[in-house]
Amino acid sequence: MNLPDIQPPQVDWASGAFADGPLLSKSTRLRDLAGIFADEPARQQLPGEQVIYDVEMLATSPAEGELYTGVTHLYPGRVGGEYFMTRGHFHARREQGEVYFGLRGNGLLLLQNEQGEARLEKVFTGSVHIIPGFTAHRLINTGGEVLSALAVWPGVAGHDYAALANGFALRVMVSSEGWEVHHD
Ligand code: F6R
Ligand code: ZN
Repeated sequence: MNLPDIQPPQVDWASGAFADGPLLSKSTRLRDLAGIFADEPARQQLPGEQVIYDVEMLATSPAEGELYTGVTHLYPGRVGGEYFMTRGHFHARREQGEVYFGLRGNGLLLLQNEQGEARLEKVFTGSVHIIPGFTAHRLINTGGEVLSALAVWPGVAGHDYAALANGFALRVMVSSEGWEVHHD
């Protein structure tokens, strides 16, 4: 008699790499991020094909009540004086929250509510971030290494990028201290 296959998906906590599939993956490149960074001419001078972040997800059900699990790998770098960051989004289903877990690297999670009030949380190995519903979120890599974070969120949450067409209320810029906040 064959034993049943009881092997679950596996993630390497140090790197955020999933051991094997089924996986969905998406690379976001500089050319996909027009208008996201403060210094648009600086973005245009950099190679458009450069990958800024990769997302790998387990291919699980999108049905109501089910959860997605994915890892974002945000590479180190700057556009002008601004650190590499994800596009950032509200969930299309605004009430749906999410949890991020810092795996490697150092950065910040920018959170912003529907009233436009923004705040930052440090992201580091072992950090846990409870993103409430009705809260936009963006990762920012302020370190010199890859910033990898595991996320778990409802399959029905979806993404609403358009609601942030005018950007977040604050930017994280390079400074002599490492980083500093600029308000737009
Ligand atoms: C899912 C989630 C993450 C992001 C990923 C890329 O709800 O928050 O998986 O989708 O970090 O960021 P965006 O989607 O803003 O390009
Ligand atoms: Zn999200």
